[in-house]
Amino acid sequence: MSDALTLLKSRRSVKPIDLVGPGPTPAELDTLLTIASRVPDHGKLMPWRFIVFEDDARLQAGDAIAAAFVADHPEAAADQIAFERQRLARAPLVVAVVSRAAPHVKIPEWEQVLSAGAAAMNLVLAAHALGFAANWITEWYAYDRRVCDALGLAPHEKIAGFVHIGHVLHPPEDRPRPALADIVTRYGT
Ligand SMILES: Cc1cc2nc3c(=O)[nH]c(=O)nc-3n(C[C@H](O)[C@H](O)[C@H](O)COP(=O)(O)O)c2cc1C
Repeated sequence: MSDALTLLKSRRSVKPIDLVGPGPTPAELDTLLTIASRVPDHGKLMPWRFIVFEDDARLQAGDAIAAAFVADHPEAAADQIAFERQRLARAPLVVAVVSRAAPHVKIPEWEQVLSAGAAAMNLVLAAHALGFAANWITEWYAYDRRVCDALGLAPHEKIAGFVHIGHVLHPPEDRPRPALADIVTRYGT
């Protein structure tokens, strides 16, 4: 089997808390983002963009997440608030994939959203190919307008995912995968 097929057949997500440093070097990050942006894109609209969270910026973003959390849970305990503040600081690197899908005269918005999903998946796969593990997650704050504003999203932009990237010390067990018989039909038979 080719290296590429081995990679594709073995990829699995690793919890953010299990992703440790070192994170990607600047050159590796360039490679990751270059591959993430090499996706099918009907109309060449680039209906996505990336926000990189590294070092202290992860906690700066965490301040915005914690602030939204406290506003909704004024009774929250200090450890809960600290947990929320750490959300983007669990892995050494987090990349937010932002969908910029918007109404267009020719290209359906749905296709633009799918392209953002492809970008996130390419990022995950590129991370694996470089020897990292990754996890594509959203969690509540991806859908929180206050957090999105603080992260600099325009009103029409959406978080497609926060892709967490790092090294894994103990690869997890795989999970059951779909049986092809359950998801594949042959048209006309
Ligand atoms: C758009 C999107 C958002 C996701 N958000 C979360 C999330 O918030 N929390 C979570 O535990 N998994 C989330 N997942 C699922 C994980 O990325 C991952 O697929 C899951 O942990 C199963 O692992 P696997 O990739 O090895 O199959 C999300 C997946 C997608 C496609």
